[in-house]
Amino acid sequence: MKVLIFDNATEAVNHAFSIVREQVVNKPKSVLGLATGGTPIKLYRKMVADFHTSAINYKMVRSINLDEYIGLDYYSIYSYAYYMDYNLFSKLNMDISNTHIQNGKAKDLKKECIRYNKVITDNPIDLQILGLGQNGHIGFNEPGTSFDLETHVVELDESTIEANKKYFGKLVKQPTKAFTMGIKSIMKSKKILLMAYGESKADAVKRMIEEEVTEDLPASILQKHDDCIILLDKEAASKLSKR
Ligand code: F6R
Repeated sequence: MKVLIFDNATEAVNHAFSIVREQVVNKPKSVLGLATGGTPIKLYRKMVADFHTSAINYKMVRSINLDEYIGLDYYSIYSYAYYMDYNLFSKLNMDISNTHIQNGKAKDLKKECIRYNKVITDNPIDLQILGLGQNGHIGFNEPGTSFDLETHVVELDESTIEANKKYFGKLVKQPTKAFTMGIKSIMKSKKILLMAYGESKADAVKRMIEEEVTEDLPASILQKHDDCIILLDKEAASKLSKR
């Protein structure tokens, strides 16, 4: 695990962007594992700005998203499918058939997990981008989830529902269940880039980096990955004992 601490999130995002860009330039058919939420937004904006001002080409890039709310699909502005299209896919020259996300409206949840696992097996992830939950989750693998799971259905933690309230309208019924890629699949990614910004992540960051590897803090498993880079701003790094 390589930990890089930046003065602010903008500098960390610049670094994340250079890693993603290099990946796509070096391997135009890269498979990118993608996250949603607040953390990667600035990275996606930089990718879009770069696409409009350089010769970078996303035509052959494939993508696999980490998670999706059960009950929501592209037709809801709160779905992760919508988020991805709005923030990234529609603004790059990606082929939409190369982009993958779980179908939140799938009738048979088990079959959807099996389908998604095949997508992951058929398209091994070159670079996985991760955010970090305040409770230490990665994807929606909540504390207590087995490290051995592949794609599965989760009951979201109360703390996750609370943390994500800000992304939902006041009158909208917030989903309590989601599909998530499992830790076993995340760990098979060739390279992992986790970003965490802000003081609200500081406790989880400390436990992820400095404490034992435990299913109670899912992100701690990243200590065992061979090529994992953690990008932090000062606030997220503020509880680390070593610099
Ligand atoms: C989102 C995801 C989650 C988020 C995490 C942090 O696809 O997998 O693990 O990365 O909940 O969310 P933000 O970035 O909104 O603080």
